[in-house]
Amino acid sequence: MGDHGAMNAVDITQDLGTAWVGRHLHCHSTVESTNELAKALAVNESAPDGTVVVADWQSAGKGRLGRRWLSKPGENLLFSVILRPDLTPMEAGQMTMLCSLGCAEAVEAETGLSIDLKWPNDFLLGNRKLGGILTELGEASPATHVPDERERRVDFVVVGIGINVNMDVGQHPEIAGEATSLASALGRPLNRTNLLRAMLGAIDDRYLAFQSGTSPSKEWESKLISLGKSVRVRTFQGIVKGVAEAVDATGALLVRRADGQLVRILEGDISPGSSQRN
Ligand code: BTN
Repeated sequence: MGDHGAMNAVDITQDLGTAWVGRHLHCHSTVESTNELAKALAVNESAPDGTVVVADWQSAGKGRLGRRWLSKPGENLLFSVILRPDLTPMEAGQMTMLCSLGCAEAVEAETGLSIDLKWPNDFLLGNRKLGGILTELGEASPATHVPDERERRVDFVVVGIGINVNMDVGQHPEIAGEATSLASALGRPLNRTNLLRAMLGAIDDRYLAFQSGTSPSKEWESKLISLGKSVRVRTFQGIVKGVAEAVDATGALLVRRADGQLVRILEGDISPGSSQRN
């Protein structure tokens, strides 16, 4: 599916008009992982707030929970945003929230499609996975030196975003049943540069709003599927079953078990519980 030409920094940034996001942009045809490069730029070159790293292909793209992120050269959007908010590590999930809201909003505006968000970091289109976010933190001072959580500060947050744009899902048998792409839904290829520009603009708007005191957490919560529904969450500690009642301000999922206990879950994979299958 078309638009496999390489992207370039000039076309992405020309008259972009953002305050922070994408004012410094690194565009590569191939990297191991845009998240890894963004972290290296943040640590070794003090890359400024809003720096973006984009690649046409990743040789070692990373998904959540140690998984791989698959994408053929030039077919999808693969990028990472370096943000430097004044937040504790616990609060840094707000960066993921505002990026996912911005990306969903931009895709909807550019395509007319309706995008859902799935806890913790997935973009869904008609119940299939359209993309995901992998957020990684760099901390200013090692945790061992600052025992009080409220005293800790992130140095930077890298929000890595993968959106299936022109992927022919049939070419990826390992994910064909559960993934989709914008081109598959629309029946035509999309211009990745235009879509990326729209996303950077929407993330920038939301980052500015955040800096003026607007937390993205309530709006993010309202876009999440599964809330109020019976769910099954696979975590490192085991399976949690119950009703997904809410998310808290940090982005943790609150699940009410049948015995009445409220379980707070930081990381896991959510699927419909026994009383519903969709
Ligand atoms: C997930 O759903 O598991 C998260 C996927 C995140 C993939 C993106 S692609 C750009 C950035 N670089 C990476 O190596 N991963 C993220």
